[in-house]
Amino acid sequence: MRGSATASWGAAALIAPHLALGTWLLMVPDHLAFTAAQVVTLAHVGLALVTLPLVIFWLVLHVRAPPSARPTSVPSSVTRWVLVAATIVAVVTGFIALWGGDIVRPAALHAWCSVAVGVPLAAHLWLSMRRWAAGAVAALLAMATAGSAAARRWLPPAPLEAAVPSFDYVTRPAGLYEPAENCGECHEQDFQDWKQSTHARTMGFSSVKESMQRSPDLLTENLQHVGQLVADPDRPLSAALVFGACGSCHSPTSFYGDGHPSLTRPSGLAAEGTGCSFCHTLREVRRGAGEGAMPAVLDPSSFSRADIFALMSRAPFYVSAPETVRRYFFQGSGRPWARRIANYLIRWRPAVHASDYHSPVLDDSRACLACHSLGIDSPEVPHMTYYGWEHSAFSTGDPKTTVSCQDCHMVRRMTGEPVREQARMVPWGPVRQGARSHLFLGGNVQAALSLGDPGLAQKEHDLNASAATIGISQVQRNDDALDVTVAVRSERVGHYFPALETKLRYGWIEVKALDASGAVVARTSPPKDSEDFGAASALIMSSVDDPKRDTQRLVAPRTSREFTSHLALPTGARVQAVVAELYNRVDPAPIATTSRSLPAPDPPL
Ligand code: HEC
Ligand code: HEC
Ligand code: HEC
Ligand code: HEC
Ligand code: HEC
Repeated sequence: MRGSATASWGAAALIAPHLALGTWLLMVPDHLAFTAAQVVTLAHVGLALVTLPLVIFWLVLHVRAPPSARPTSVPSSVTRWVLVAATIVAVVTGFIALWGGDIVRPAALHAWCSVAVGVPLAAHLWLSMRRWAAGAVAALLAMATAGSAAARRWLPPAPLEAAVPSFDYVTRPAGLYEPAENCGECHEQDFQDWKQSTHARTMGFSSVKESMQRSPDLLTENLQHVGQLVADPDRPLSAALVFGACGSCHSPTSFYGDGHPSLTRPSGLAAEGTGCSFCHTLREVRRGAGEGAMPAVLDPSSFSRADIFALMSRAPFYVSAPETVRRYFFQGSGRPWARRIANYLIRWRPAVHASDYHSPVLDDSRACLACHSLGIDSPEVPHMTYYGWEHSAFSTGDPKTTVSCQDCHMVRRMTGEPVREQARMVPWGPVRQGARSHLFLGGNVQAALSLGDPGLAQKEHDLNASAATIGISQVQRNDDALDVTVAVRSERVGHYFPALETKLRYGWIEVKALDASGAVVARTSPPKDSEDFGAASALIMSSVDDPKRDTQRLVAPRTSREFTSHLALPTGARVQAVVAELYNRVDPAPIATTSRSLPAPDPPL
């Protein structure tokens, strides 16, 4: 009897702490007592690893005890087997939870094991006349339940969602942004996709590096400097400082962080471009707080001071808030062993993590606003991708029917409809609805080729090829020339075509005249990147550099626009057909093609 009493106390001592810790983890959501939750998790896991061999040893001994020591009544042998089964389930699901955390299904079963083991344990001890031990187990379970329920009820209310700080032109502790590799330790697919995307290379392209060398004064600007400009009316003003600070879009952790890194020789986070940690700690976009009428911006050289103030106070900036991320023990540590502890904690209990890295603003096109539109909503200002979208039919004002930037650019296959794709967020996790591709396909074939990735280049080209269609609407034949009018219809572009409405991106229409044998007898020459683009094919572009010239020639979403090309023919040329091809500056291949055969020309007299 003595031996069995000791064994029962032993069993109770081994199992009881888990009943208490497990009950807490089951009942108290982590965000209510985040530090406690991590201590409890670590204690539960640590203790489990120590006691597990002992529990197994004890189970084996106990079940194999001589028949004389075994209970004889039916209820007691039932509870005995229920207890053994529950303990085995607890151990097995515990291992699964240890591997996959609470997002894998069996882990949900494990959560209830405190009840599944606790109740039959108490019953078993009671039925086999070990009433003190039974009472102790029951009391502990009751206390753990009551304690966790009380914690849940009376802990100061803490929201699951991360805090949204107000916008105040302040820079953030730069050390709190994490390198993308850290996130890639778990989000393998998103990391690989992002790494290939242009977002990982916003500081990497030679064109960007070269043009930044030409604007050194714009590289040192950060959000705090902009704030000082806005606050101090006596400072010399330059709209370029606000709207052109390259870092605000190309190296956002430098602009929004307080680290003051060099952008001419960027390293670490500054070189990372637009990384995970910046986008995923966004909380809001501050936009258009300024009052009064929008000044006309047709001629930037004649800006008045008041104009610039009005514009500056309306410039949208992000509320970037890495400091509002509730950090798991050792999260972001430079030491790999320490980060491993953080990673396990995130893995086991990701709820707070998932919430802090996914504020509602990320589900909305506004997440892209401050980088994909230069400051203000005015057609005279270049670089209006966001506003172009906002004024289009794709933005309906109703989240159900709106086609957001994410719906077209964060998908494996663009359809131009709101989409919800499926994928795992982490390799071991369940398939989730609402997956988002981080390739950010946008038709930049050239960028994919510079990465040496023909597969990606093909995907980028396919997106371009579905963007627009063309048709030859009119061919006018003169003596030795053709005037060919081509209509471009924007089908699936959610903003002006082509995006990035500056001289950096343009489209053009190349027109060829063919003779009866199919040989090209005349063609328009492709434009060159230069001040006047050469004697070129019809350009589709916008430029504010010279507002007097007719360069405001973009195609608005879901509209058509006609462009006429003049084609000089060699004398005596006999044109049978005209071919028109639509090009996007960042894609070497045509993105749409059409042709039309001409009636045979009158025979020469
Ligand atoms: C130790 C592994 C781990 C690391 C490291 C990690 N995450 Fe996660 N993350 C997870 C898990 C697990 C989930 C939950 C997945 C699920 O519910 O399917 C998650 C969820 C998310 C979500 C999705 C939220 C939602 O429900 O839509 C985002 C966004 C996210 N993480 C961003 C990040 C970012 C950014 C980093 C780097 C700063 C990062 N994660 C680092 C494991 C990790
Ligand atoms: C408002 C955000 C923003 C600011 C400020 C900004 N850029 Fe950009 N830049 C972009 C975006 C977005 C793209 C390309 C994506 C697109 O097509 O819209 C881009 C593209 C470029 C490219 C073309 C890269 C290529 O793929 O060929 C160069 C070069 C460039 N930027 C240089 C600069 C320089 C230099 C500055 C500072 C004087 C600057 N940018 C300021 C957002 C910005
Ligand atoms: C340019 C901004 C941006 C960058 C950079 C970025 N994300 Fe995201 N991420 C988003 C947006 C926007 C969503 C989708 C929100 C929605 O619509 O549900 C998202 C969704 C996610 C999700 C949940 C959905 C899914 O399919 O996995 C995870 C996890 C995630 N991102 C991780 C990462 C990681 C890891 C990185 C870096 C390797 C990263 N993100 C870089 C903007 C970004
Ligand atoms: C912190 C600034 C920033 C944010 C936020 C941002 N982007 Fe970008 N994005 C850029 C810059 C800069 C580039 C240009 C890279 C280059 O060509 O140098 C770019 C490039 C792109 C491209 C071109 C990719 C290609 O290969 O053609 C797409 C598409 C894109 N972004 C979509 C989005 C969407 C959608 C969002 C919102 C969910 C977003 N971006 C948020 C700065 C940003
Ligand atoms: C209905 C689909 C659709 C929507 C919605 C959409 N886009 Fe696009 N986007 C496209 C297509 C198609 C292209 C390729 C043609 C082009 O360059 O204009 C493109 C091109 C781009 C590019 C140019 C990439 C480059 O390197 O040249 C950027 C940047 C971009 N989009 C950003 C955005 C942002 C930001 C939003 C939201 C404000 C958005 N897009 C909404 C379809 C869409």
